[in-house]
Amino acid sequence: MVDRAPWAEDRARAILAAYRAEPGALLPMLHALQETFGCIDAEAVPLLAEVLNLSRAEVHGVVTFYHVFRRTRPGRHVVKVCRAEACQAVGAESLLDHVRRSLAVEDGGTTADGAFTLQVVYCLGNCALGPSVMVDETVHGRVTPARFDAVAAIHRDREDAA
Ligand code: FES
Repeated sequence: MVDRAPWAEDRARAILAAYRAEPGALLPMLHALQETFGCIDAEAVPLLAEVLNLSRAEVHGVVTFYHVFRRTRPGRHVVKVCRAEACQAVGAESLLDHVRRSLAVEDGGTTADGAFTLQVVYCLGNCALGPSVMVDETVHGRVTPARFDAVAAIHRDREDAA
């Protein structure tokens, strides 16, 4: 489940302070902010620029360069479908088509109920067991359309039971 703490500047400043002495602090700061708030809030850019004495454009450039950083709050679960070569060779494209249809979202989109965000990624480090899909922190291998639907249903059931 993705942490969805609302943006709070004082909390963000405390997070940034913990990384300030690190060389190349911008990337660890961005990861920490995303872990806490679920995305890189637009208000984080001027804050990072101020703290690191960078221009807003420099910070924005890094945020947009790395696809791992989200600029909008994700759904409660993040589904990452691998589209790299080894997974493509064993059906990743048709699986991805199925996932899009099953969740009724485009790449990067979030389901209408806010349950799932779909991301296309390039390698999950599970190449020998493709097609690979990661849901939140768990990597699933040899994923078929039916298996994906079962995993998604388990996440929905857990939410219903909570
Ligand atoms: S190519 Fe898909 S996990 Fe590596």
